[in-house]
Amino acid sequence: MEVIKVEHLAKSFDTAEQKVHAVRDISFSVEKGEIFGVIGLSGAGKSTLVRCLNLLERPDAGAVYVDGKNLMELNKNELMLARREISMIFQNYNLLMQRSVLDNVGFPLEIAGVSKSEARKQALHYLETVGLKEKANAFPAQLSGGQKQRVAIARALAAKPKIILCDEATSALDPETTDTILNLLSRINKEYGITIILITHEMRVVEEICNRVAVLDGGKIAEMGNTKEVFDNPKTLAAKRLLINRQSEKALMGLDDEEVSNGI
Ligand SMILES: Nc1ncnc2c1ncn2[C@@H]1O[C@H](COP(=O)(O)OP(=O)(O)O)[C@@H](O)[C@H]1O
Ligand SMILES: [Mg+2]
Repeated sequence: MEVIKVEHLAKSFDTAEQKVHAVRDISFSVEKGEIFGVIGLSGAGKSTLVRCLNLLERPDAGAVYVDGKNLMELNKNELMLARREISMIFQNYNLLMQRSVLDNVGFPLEIAGVSKSEARKQALHYLETVGLKEKANAFPAQLSGGQKQRVAIARALAAKPKIILCDEATSALDPETTDTILNLLSRINKEYGITIILITHEMRVVEEICNRVAVLDGGKIAEMGNTKEVFDNPKTLAAKRLLINRQSEKALMGLDDEEVSNGI
């Protein structure tokens, strides 16, 4: 069953100098329970695309179906309810600095009308899920980047979404912390059956956890398919260009390994 379907999506911005076509005629669908990757160079249109998926950015044209409902046709109230099914996590975490970790996680529940004590109870459960129960009373400023992202994930879960959109969620983190966040996202995907759309410029992240991937280039999907197939046999110039970087990255890492084992 497809949980999200996008048809002929387009979004442009008028700037002083020119009209920027950030997303041009994009169509794809994502099945329930998938981890779907979107990769592309900076400026390819990834963030605009992801913001169009919950209508944070209103598309100029096209349709976004979530569970068969076209978000473009909903009124304000219906859209607000539909949006609760879609959580987002970002590179900069977007936590509320004056609120404790516990109250950050409980925030979407409070907004949805849950009492403060019940919100805190549920928040504690989700903090436990992400392994941060002991930080419940800390404030965001007292946490590391990886811990902040785990709080953001707990907050995303507290809204009980069907879909989580991740926009460069690991891009500010070191490789090791990136891995712990990817493991956590993978676990959430399996345990809660939440569909994940993961936007990143890091090939490795996609390779690690995405079932399928779309390569974005100049606001269009250059190619799309099973991650392994696309990575092993990129067909378009856009995909090849991205993957060449990955190969040289791997080669560099290989060199480091050798240096380490030689005791240099
Ligand atoms: N609010 C905006 N106003 C004007 N141009 C924008 C705006 N948002 C994005 N753009 C432009 O749209 C293009 C795609 O941007 P973006 O979606 O952020 O790409 P990515 O996330 O892949 O780096 C870029 O050329 C960017 O400058
Ligand atoms: Mg972006």
